[in-house]
Amino acid sequence: MKLIGPFKQIVTLANLPLRGKLSDDQLEIINDSGLLIKEEKIETAASFQDLKKQFPNIEIENIEGEQICLPAFTDSHTHICFGGNRANDFAMRNAGKTYLEIAESGGGIWSSVLHTREASEEELLKTTLERINFLISQGITTIEIKSGYGLDVENELKMLRVIKKAQTFTKATLVPTCLSAHLKPRDFEGSSEEYLNYIITEILPKVKEENLAKRVDIFIEKSAFLPEESKAFLLKAKELGFEITVHADQFTSGSSRIAVEVGAKSADHLEATIDEDIQFLAKSETVATALPGASLGLGEKFTPARKILDAGGIFAIASDWNPGSAPMGNLITQASILATFEKLSTAEVLAGITFRSAFALSLEDRGTLEKGKKADFVTFKTDNFQSILYHQGSLKAQSVYIDGEKV
Ligand code: NIG
Ligand code: FE
Repeated sequence: MKLIGPFKQIVTLANLPLRGKLSDDQLEIINDSGLLIKEEKIETAASFQDLKKQFPNIEIENIEGEQICLPAFTDSHTHICFGGNRANDFAMRNAGKTYLEIAESGGGIWSSVLHTREASEEELLKTTLERINFLISQGITTIEIKSGYGLDVENELKMLRVIKKAQTFTKATLVPTCLSAHLKPRDFEGSSEEYLNYIITEILPKVKEENLAKRVDIFIEKSAFLPEESKAFLLKAKELGFEITVHADQFTSGSSRIAVEVGAKSADHLEATIDEDIQFLAKSETVATALPGASLGLGEKFTPARKILDAGGIFAIASDWNPGSAPMGNLITQASILATFEKLSTAEVLAGITFRSAFALSLEDRGTLEKGKKADFVTFKTDNFQSILYHQGSLKAQSVYIDGEKV
């Protein structure tokens, strides 16, 4: 056993509901406290003096100066395995070009596909690990990573193998997702429906065989896959034993309904979700995930987070870090800005990037600092937890711990 402290505050995020709105006075905050770690798990969070008295001979890892401690964060939606960049897309969008015009002139998702196909496994591994380390430096220790820039058997498997290999180089937990249904590749000869069938018959069996991912994602949108064909695809993927997540309602509404109907673990984006569908989603077990990085990257409106929480939904926030719509990769900045525009409490934001986003990945072993949970936590040099969002990302994490060890 090991005692870490003293902390000015430990915010445990324990004993909070999985769904619906939260106020800051619901947060359990333990002042002048210590964290007791036993075999990579949290044993307890309590008064530092009391713990020292109770365990007089315990090993102590001393915390210098005024620091606070929270559970580490989970980023449940990223596309950080990619080649090239799309700085030119970004500049063109800001200069007034539409997404479609950019795609037609050789930019967009397809250009990232070409760059990712060109990249060697070594290059992809190196840049993916750099991005993983940037996320860890923010206090994020659980990271979902999607394929979706390969779009054929060879290159989708290449991406997923790189993600699997990256796991051997990092202590963070990586959660791979197969997003072969990101877009019908330009070089596929056949209809969208035929491409979706190709994923079912050619890609997913190999993904399963090599144990490369347990989750399947799809981009349902006018420019990608249509609702009916997507639903049929997701049901087949489910039959093959995959968990489902959906890029839903980003520009047009309707697909979050499909996510709920197929029992998806999460529906992500939701910038365009209409009120009726918010109610439907909020009553379901599907996590509604906002991706403010995409709103900021595209200059689009924010996900109606306030309405989702008020309607009792399970609400999470993720970075969507990708080369196109969300190039920033700073989750705390994005979540802070979402909070100011959507009027979210600190508790709602913190829950949305800890135990609620972990739930979206079916990882219920983490995200709070209570007995038996994975000892992943983050410290900040401040005396007050409200400072984290207040500084909108410029207050950097001081130390990040995985399984009770500083990384
Ligand atoms: O989550 N919406 C579709 N997919 C990504 C964008 C990927 C890209 O632009 O490369 C997203 O925003
Ligand atoms: Fe995305």
